[in-house]
Amino acid sequence: MRRAPARPSLRVGIVTLAPEMFASVLATGLIGRAIRAGLLEAAFANPRDYARDAHRRVDARPYGGGPGMVLMPGPLDAAIRQVAKRGSWIVGLSPRGRPFGAPTASRLAKKKQIVLVCGRYEGLDERVCESFDEEISIGDYVLSGGEVAAMAVLDAVARLVPGAMGNASSFAEESFADGLLEYPQYTRPRVWRGKRVPAVLLSGNHARIGDWRRRKSLELTRRLRPDLLLARKSSKV
Ligand code: ADE
Repeated sequence: MRRAPARPSLRVGIVTLAPEMFASVLATGLIGRAIRAGLLEAAFANPRDYARDAHRRVDARPYGGGPGMVLMPGPLDAAIRQVAKRGSWIVGLSPRGRPFGAPTASRLAKKKQIVLVCGRYEGLDERVCESFDEEISIGDYVLSGGEVAAMAVLDAVARLVPGAMGNASSFAEESFADGLLEYPQYTRPRVWRGKRVPAVLLSGNHARIGDWRRRKSLELTRRLRPDLLLARKSSKV
């Protein structure tokens, strides 16, 4: 068995009222391997453990009225402090956050310690949000809590932790790395339901294969995500 490095490259603190949601994500696949190899460390804090009353309440009605409940600042802040070390980068998951994408994932993967704060109910008391370093949204829709968003962020970031993915060149070639979608992939069998693998991929000519992939990458992006091409053009001027 490979020895775990003395210090993980990335420590992730997760503040959530539903830590059980993360069990299989942390045990499976690339994230599971990165944790077992000691490259990634995850620690949980549950605001419920810091509730003050006999009912262990963490939420209350919003001042000013309105529907739903709001997470109270006290238990939430105490839970954040449990997992945040000095220098931790604190990220709130929220539909009002900045849209998450590959650049944010690679920025977060370079940190030593991040804390992902998952909201529930109608939201968090704004005074706690003021202590966040940033807020991230995974899309323009409202989830019932930040947990699924935190898992998406965690997955995308964990792949970029040095050593987690093994093959570094796959980073350079995957979708979004160059502002384009990845080229189409094929594997065995050579003919499936009468459809052949493009001959160029069987040619062994790496220069031609490279050209073909680049062309397909552009074609796919133009067809499926023309917005990426526009964004790429404007970022290059
Ligand atoms: N919490 C609820 N909805 C969310 C979203 N779209 N992104 C991040 N966190 C959220």
